[in-house]
Amino acid sequence: MVIVDLQHVTYRYPMTEQSALEDVSLHIEEGEFVAVIGPNGAGKSTLCYTVAGFIPHFFKGELEGTVEVAGVESRQASLEQRVRSVGLVFQNPFNQISGAKYTVFEEIAFGLENLGVSRAEMPARVEQVMALTGITDLAERSPYALSGGQQQRVALASILVMEPKVLVLDEPTSQLDPVGTREVFGVIRNMALRGMTVLMVEHKLEWVAAFADRVIALENGRILAEGTPAEVLTDERLLEHHFGFSRYTLAAREGRKEALWPPDRRLPVTLDEAETGFREGLRRP
Ligand SMILES: Nc1ncnc2c1ncn2[C@@H]1O[C@H](COP(=O)(O)OP(=O)(O)O)[C@@H](O)[C@H]1O
Ligand SMILES: [Mg+2]
Repeated sequence: MVIVDLQHVTYRYPMTEQSALEDVSLHIEEGEFVAVIGPNGAGKSTLCYTVAGFIPHFFKGELEGTVEVAGVESRQASLEQRVRSVGLVFQNPFNQISGAKYTVFEEIAFGLENLGVSRAEMPARVEQVMALTGITDLAERSPYALSGGQQQRVALASILVMEPKVLVLDEPTSQLDPVGTREVFGVIRNMALRGMTVLMVEHKLEWVAAFADRVIALENGRILAEGTPAEVLTDERLLEHHFGFSRYTLAAREGRKEALWPPDRRLPVTLDEAETGFREGLRRP
């Protein structure tokens, strides 16, 4: 079942001439894990706001086309419908903090209060999601007195606790070290396996390659390429449009010039693929 359905979406922020999104059509199946990549200013955050309904409900401006999430057109969706169907983890976790609560525990419970979850049910749900995101020991801390990485986990927890059907994440690992990144990707993949739909903006291509079902490359507000990680992350057009490649892809691309990479083999996107390919390349006469 298609759960996110964008048809010919064009959007301009107020008082701007240029569209931040230009004729974007996108269909996401329930339970799919879709990653979005693209250079600065490509429109990645704007796409997140659009799917999450912040456009047009918070950001005004000019929206053309249709945006349907869980069967409801976003212009028609009530606040409660939107909160139940889609949760957005902001690019800057600081923007996520409510400012209304003194502890991390209360901060995570805050969204549940608004959803009308009973007082009796709340602590168990908050504790469960804190354990899942590895922040149990932060429960009594102030949401403001945390490192960037800790804030990112709290931001993720405060959205996950509401169990949205669609989870939208805007660069959720930007402040995390490799261990934290692995943990967060693990959590998100588990949510996807349990049926949550995930749309994630992410620059760490090795992780995108290992976890995403599908990759969308955005540039200048348009979809430049779309497909499996293996297809999109080795697409030469990306290099012409200021995208990077993963180090494994780049290494093999160089290796191919020196005949170290088998000429008929697709470029790798993960370490495993790189290793297999280079071994084969080195065995050749
Ligand atoms: N609040 C805003 N008002 C006006 N223009 C904006 C606003 N936010 C973003 N833009 C513009 O929209 C375009 C896309 O931005 P954004 O979605 O933030 O890109 P990305 O997340 O890929 O870096 C950029 O040209 C940016 O300058
Ligand atoms: Mg952004």
